[in-house]
Amino acid sequence: MQPTSFIWMNGEFVPWPEAKVHVMTYALHYGGGVFEGMRVYKTAHGPAVFRLREHIERLFYSAQVLHLKIPYSVEQLCDATCELLRRNNLEHGYIRPLAFYGYGVMGLNPSAGPTDMMLACWPWGPYISVEQADIKVSKYIRIHPRSTVADAKICGHYANSILAVLELQGTKYHEALFLDADGLVAEGPGENFFIVRDNQLITPPLGTILPGITRATVLEIARTMGISTSEHPITLDDALSADEAFFTGTAAEVTPIATINDQRIGAPGVGALTKRLKIAYDDIVHGRDERHLHFLTFVQPR
Ligand SMILES: Cc1ncc(COP(=O)(O)O)c(C=O)c1O
Repeated sequence: MQPTSFIWMNGEFVPWPEAKVHVMTYALHYGGGVFEGMRVYKTAHGPAVFRLREHIERLFYSAQVLHLKIPYSVEQLCDATCELLRRNNLEHGYIRPLAFYGYGVMGLNPSAGPTDMMLACWPWGPYISVEQADIKVSKYIRIHPRSTVADAKICGHYANSILAVLELQGTKYHEALFLDADGLVAEGPGENFFIVRDNQLITPPLGTILPGITRATVLEIARTMGISTSEHPITLDDALSADEAFFTGTAAEVTPIATINDQRIGAPGVGALTKRLKIAYDDIVHGRDERHLHFLTFVQPR
């Protein structure tokens, strides 16, 4: 696999095959790293990264939770991201920043260990490539906010998501849905969850979930469209009896949901409000909405 030519690693652009770490790297053993996922879109004004700064700021938040010192500024990482896209000539795809405790410590306490950091990018199409997803409630619950800092995007947290995804392997379901310890709907393994009921958009409150940048964007654009929004606990019955449901995420973008546990949500077909929000999101990320160009960082040619 070598989808692009260069990876930015510890401040240098290195050829993709040479971006390697030692097997005794701390993060490889314990998940002691933090990451992000961003998308670059082709627009009429050139390629643009969606909400670049917010993603890099969330990376710093996650790092601080793990006491991981990132030896670069937000600006430096934003610039390095744009330079990476230029060097790889990538106009449309996915970007993965990752900062982690590197090679040097083996006890559980990582604080004396070095920080390694990389940025990679590659072409990547839709994450859930169906018009409407059939999803299933996982037998696992979402990581508990009293077991960890659940709103940080820490590598080790993703054992939870991996198990939920593996549970569905070989089934007809496209994605899983986590409940929390109280049986309330939390989110997907890599997506936030929304329902529409009586023309109101409802999503679970922050606390157990990852505070998704797509979630925040969809809430904001819904409000500008005059749609009533609420961050409110959602029971599984609420979800099953909703008029519409969808996932949001950098990878999943706005993915309409057809069924949960084989039960159809609302009328057949993509719901009217979901469709409006999906189109609005698509217009924003592709730079077709002049009012939301501030969400985009254009990768200027050198
Ligand atoms: C667990 C989880 N929830 C939600 C999301 C969606 O977040 P965002 O919209 O910032 O990509 C992600 C993706 O990063 C995720 O991993």
